[in-house]
Amino acid sequence: MLHMTRVAELREDLAGLRSRGLRVALVPTMGNLHEGHLELVRLARQHAECVVCSIFVNPTQFGPGEDYASYPRTLARDAEMLRAEGVHALFAPGVEQMYPLGLAQATEVRVQGLADILCGAVRPGHFNGVATVVLRLLNMVMPQVAVFGQKDYQQQLIIRRLVADLNVPAEILTAPTSRESDGLARSSRNQYLTAEERTRAPALYAALQTLAAGLSASEDNAAALCAGARQHIQAAGLIPEYVELRDAATLAPASPGHRPLIALAAARLGRARLIDNLLIA
Ligand code: PAJ
Repeated sequence: MLHMTRVAELREDLAGLRSRGLRVALVPTMGNLHEGHLELVRLARQHAECVVCSIFVNPTQFGPGEDYASYPRTLARDAEMLRAEGVHALFAPGVEQMYPLGLAQATEVRVQGLADILCGAVRPGHFNGVATVVLRLLNMVMPQVAVFGQKDYQQQLIIRRLVADLNVPAEILTAPTSRESDGLARSSRNQYLTAEERTRAPALYAALQTLAAGLSASEDNAAALCAGARQHIQAAGLIPEYVELRDAATLAPASPGHRPLIALAAARLGRARLIDNLLIA
């Protein structure tokens, strides 16, 4: 596996692959890899001969007071995991490679509407940072395919919107959410939980499952079901930020009988912010 830190060396290598007619898939991450990230890599390998995985803790998607400085950075261990998965190249650039003009002068991408609701309302500017860094990575790698996780449902929709709107010639794939055996969605931030908090964390997904079951029993009580899920989350000692039922394609408020829907929830637990979702087809 190649381990590259500079855009110039990445582009040189990729030009060589393309001239040999090899397909390239990109898996963008912030590192501290877990099984969920590796599932993305495995899906990528099914669609391309060469997988490029990027590891970059992107400063522009963290708000003031968020965990940019303390975000877990485990590059040597991550590289070993990627090597074992048969990844062609790890691209782990510094901030000066990703933002050569510096953060104050950097060009920003903003996906209007979709980026301002749900997680975007709780974390203003977050998705501008995500869209900006993902477009930079897509332009650097020019992959045929890029893979994202359903765990970050709003994020993958924003990237799909961006790619379609700006005519980026990459196919976007979404891999299913990878979960612990008790249902908790895997996340690099789960390690912020204490052992006691960790036992309560599965309540977020359990509440979404109860909501989905309630919806299949009766269509017109969506608001009550969301309120019930909120209470379920609160009763487990989490602090809910939102529980919503939305149109799965647009995240517009859901009308009765509409399908597919997406149930989305976010909550705080100790030092961690947990998000999860459940597709209702
Ligand atoms: P990160 O949180 O490292 O996640 C990288 C990718 O892995 C994202 O597409 C995310 O949705 C996916 N992922 C994380 N946990 C998952 C799980 N349990 N199941 C399935 N997929 C999972 O998301 C980011 O980084 C950043 O915002 C990034 C897109 C890299 C831009 O900086």
